[in-house]
Amino acid sequence: MTATAVICGLGACLPQRTVTNEELAGRLDTSDDWIRTRTGIARRRMVEPGTSTGDLAVAAGAAALESAGADADFVLLATTTPDRLCPGTAPEVGYRIGLGEVPALDVSAVCSGFVYGLVLARALVTAGVCRRPLVIGAEVYTSIIDPSDRNTAVIFGDGAGAVLLREGLVSEPGAIRATDLGSDGRGSDMIAIAGGGSREPGRDGALPRDRRYFQMDGRMVYGQAVRRMTDSSRTVLEQAGWTPSAVGAFVGHQANQRILDAVADHLGVGDRCRFGNIAEVGNTAAASIPLALADTAAQGRVRPGTPTVLTAFGGGLAWGSVALNWPDVVPVQHDVEHAHTSAAS
Ligand code: UT7
Repeated sequence: MTATAVICGLGACLPQRTVTNEELAGRLDTSDDWIRTRTGIARRRMVEPGTSTGDLAVAAGAAALESAGADADFVLLATTTPDRLCPGTAPEVGYRIGLGEVPALDVSAVCSGFVYGLVLARALVTAGVCRRPLVIGAEVYTSIIDPSDRNTAVIFGDGAGAVLLREGLVSEPGAIRATDLGSDGRGSDMIAIAGGGSREPGRDGALPRDRRYFQMDGRMVYGQAVRRMTDSSRTVLEQAGWTPSAVGAFVGHQANQRILDAVADHLGVGDRCRFGNIAEVGNTAAASIPLALADTAAQGRVRPGTPTVLTAFGGGLAWGSVALNWPDVVPVQHDVEHAHTSAAS
């Protein structure tokens, strides 16, 4: 049997504060009906001032270790909203979780970051670089959203999810069976924060509002999202030797319920095999897939070993998919406060 990486722990952290569609409609030119019918979102979570991506990542990462009953020897943190531009957030997160001097780095692939992280983690394991990588997807997206922009403020939310992997066999529950990654830099302007980087530093507060905040051309991105996630999912299905009807669990990046349904329809994955939590947490970018996995696993909705497809698409443009056996794990969820009370903090 071929060696691969196997998910053996699953953790999550959601901020306490819920922001409903009604609350947003009270201050923006939008409505509960528009948001629900166009996106499938009913509410999302938002951190209190002072809580960072690193705080959520520490809580979710520690939860994944608790779920597995094991430590990690490598940390990959997928995020669009690092605590600081420099250095990466992962080393501090690893230290605060109590992992000492483990290798740690950020993965910057926006909404596909968690899937990129999973694929890298599996490669690190099979190459013998590490034995138990921790992959965290964490975002404080509300820190880069213009609260007065109805195009984005209704969609994105905050949260973190994490998985611990170990070396194992492709026949086991949680085993990664096939992977696919891709990007198309021609679309780099479609989902972007224009300023604040080396191209347009905007020193001394010189950046106008629309260059400072996250912008998304939703209409342009929509078609790409459907096409790329469908094609990428088909690639991993083919590699895994699974027909679409064999798939028992489909978990896509929680960007938009209509997009997720279109991808699942194109693939031919049945209604009862589609899992997600977009209605409750909105689009949490790099955190969305591990949060959806944790939510589904907590409800015991999928039998361990079930053929599963994860797929994501987002800024870059970048996309990716993973075919795996549904893991045999009991997820653990921690409050943000856990990050402030954990041993190494
Ligand atoms: O996570 C990374 C990847 N991201 C995605 O995959 C997102 C892909 N795109 C989408 O999910 C959708 O395009 C959105 C949810 C962003 C927008 O939905 P849409 O059905 O594509 O709407 P639209 O942009 O075509 O806008 C339709 C109308 C427009 O008005 P007009 O021009 O028809 O008069 C918008 O101005 O809806 C208007 N609109 C809104 N109305 C009420 C846009 N945002 C809102 C809003 N509330 N929040």
